Amino acid sequence: MNILLFIGPPGSGKGTQADLIHEELGIPHISTGDILREAVKAQTDLGKKARKYMQAGDLVPDDIMIGIIQDRILQPDCNDGYILDGFPRTTNQGKALEKMLKENQQEITRVFYIDVEDDILMKRILGRETCHKCGAVFNKYFNPPQKAGICDNCQSELVTRSDDNEQSVRNRLKKYKENTYPLFKHFKEKELLVNIDGSQPIKEIKTRILSFLER
Ligand code: AP5
Repeated sequence: MNILLFIGPPGSGKGTQADLIHEELGIPHISTGDILREAVKAQTDLGKKARKYMQAGDLVPDDIMIGIIQDRILQPDCNDGYILDGFPRTTNQGKALEKMLKENQQEITRVFYIDVEDDILMKRILGRETCHKCGAVFNKYFNPPQKAGICDNCQSELVTRSDDNEQSVRNRLKKYKENTYPLFKHFKEKELLVNIDGSQPIKEIKTRILSFLER
């Protein structure tokens, strides 16, 4: 059973890689960002609470995020493992996850820490385009679709995320350094951390991640 965590700054490629590994291993890819965006779109209570934090590039409060993950990982499709993309993002979220897993007699298998320099991150985020129907992610500069503005997989329109603007990205990077980076040290001490150079091509990163999982 694999319980895999992807952590790293915004735009480092967590979502891209988590999706590829989900296709390889057949375990769910749980993206807290995607769960929140769905809730905002559906205008649920969660979405209404989360919207203002997300727009500003701030973190949604820990109690909300921990509650979401607590419910999600108990779903039957998680019985054979899962990939967490974007959670935990604070020390409190990390502690809560470890407590939940302990209660279920489970353990984190690996934590993939994907790192990329800030100037590349900005260009990646400002170039990101996502399919509004199937969620596939492209990039105007680095990973363009075959036909501009159209999804290669389902031919639907590609859209830009409303929080992918320069101001929000700067704040997301700041919050990342203050709140998420300390988790790096924690997981390193637990010998769970695998450092991934996120500036490499998408396919090479995937191969590297899979090689760690085969060990
Ligand atoms: P979230 O959606 O998780 O945003 P993020 O952390 O800012 O990360 P991104 O989705 O921007 O980047 P990514 O690393 O997944 O990169 P991607 O693969 O798309 O969260 C959004 C918001 O929700 C947060 O700001 C916060 O408000 C809230 N939130 C979520 N989780 C939370 C939590 N746990 N606690 C509190 N609040 C929470 O790639 C980016 C682009 O680069 C794409 O265009 C892609 O095609 C391209 N690309 C990827 N890899 C490569 C490569 N190797 N080479 C070239 N291009 C590449």
